[in-house]
Amino acid sequence: MTLHPLAQALNQDLSAEGCSILDTLSSQGKAIFFPSKGILGQGAEAKDAAINATIGTALEDDGSALTLPCIQKSMNLNKSSFLYAPSFGDPKLREAWKAQIQKKCPSLGNTKISNPVVTAALTHALSCAAYLFLDPGDEIIMPDLYWDNYELVFENGRGAKIKTFNTFVNGGFDVEALRSALQNSKSSKKVVLLNFPNNPTGYTATDEEASAIAKVLKESADAGNSVVALLDDAYFGLVYEQGVYKESLFSKLADSSPNLLAVKLDGPTKEDYVWGFRVGFVTFAFKGATDAQLKALENKIAGVVRGNISNAPSISQKILLAAYTCNEYEVEKKEKYATLKKRYDIIKEVLASHPEYKKTFTPMPFNSGYFMCIRPIGIDAETIRKDLIANYSTGVIVLSGLIRLAFSAVPTDKIPLLFDNIYNAISKRQNHG
Ligand SMILES: Cc1ncc(COP(=O)(O)O)c(C=O)c1O
Repeated sequence: MTLHPLAQALNQDLSAEGCSILDTLSSQGKAIFFPSKGILGQGAEAKDAAINATIGTALEDDGSALTLPCIQKSMNLNKSSFLYAPSFGDPKLREAWKAQIQKKCPSLGNTKISNPVVTAALTHALSCAAYLFLDPGDEIIMPDLYWDNYELVFENGRGAKIKTFNTFVNGGFDVEALRSALQNSKSSKKVVLLNFPNNPTGYTATDEEASAIAKVLKESADAGNSVVALLDDAYFGLVYEQGVYKESLFSKLADSSPNLLAVKLDGPTKEDYVWGFRVGFVTFAFKGATDAQLKALENKIAGVVRGNISNAPSISQKILLAAYTCNEYEVEKKEKYATLKKRYDIIKEVLASHPEYKKTFTPMPFNSGYFMCIRPIGIDAETIRKDLIANYSTGVIVLSGLIRLAFSAVPTDKIPLLFDNIYNAISKRQNHG
């Protein structure tokens, strides 16, 4: 395997001047690197920008962290928070999260699902799922617009190969491309990752698309394949349009086929605006699952947790549990949802009231989450990103030739200027050849 240039650079430093430390590293150790040039590097370049649309957190209009006061209030803890939490997670928190999943996904009805097992947030949940389902060389199928950290988790972390399919067709999700990807993959084990609302596009499948996706996965399972559907629900609940699927695909897959294991990876990080708490959950379901089988899966994932972080932070779990029983929790969540939805609505208005923008960029489909993406017309996205920082004090992220805008982090009144700056940066370059 050819090493990533950033890994090569680190290895060169380690072996410089006759130093033999590099030889002590495992193959994985030699291949790993810190992704300093991706989202993180671009974010660092934008840190002093007047408009910073790079950040995958949510900020209030005054620039402070957008948080639920009931969570802050729950930070008043007693001594028990100093103790370890079990590797499976705090039992009461697991119960509370399970009840939340059932409430947020009402069409699950009485379908049997496992108890959620606690991880140290979603990245860790993804990494635990990779441990459980992927051997080196295995394929993991996902849309080609994906969160870039999946590469470190699945490829560097597990030696798996990300196999992508086309994300959008005719302004919607390319379900047929998913079908072809499943058919074209040679192994009878099909590990698929779907992330709605999506990072980077801010897209969630419509009601019809969600049904079609579920059908395609079921067909593959019914044809005798073993399908594992990893559902990264990091931004769950932040859907801003009617007709867009409001539940998790977990609802449609949990009781779909004995050959289709649905794995819900979710957590409060983005849903409850607690990015630094580091709590996430893994929940399993498949048609005909017995209690013992679901328990076995819980034990498997808890074993992975035990073997790499021992257990997730107890203090965060206690704070969350206290918040989930607060009366204000639901109300405050609605308020914060309204803040983000307002920004989404303003973006729609800005785009509709500026037909001239169409000459400079094309918005990708978006209807949910923290982000939206645009494709600049005729000019390379990275050129525009650099120009925006240097000449417009505006920070954006470039991924797969697209410009990603984190409206979650941009004060509402700065959104029109954000788009104006992008329009000006692109049109100036277009006019100067
Ligand atoms: C799609 C997606 N999944 C997972 C994560 C990771 O979340 P956590 O901070 O809980 O590890 C992110 C964070 O940006 C994300 O965008």
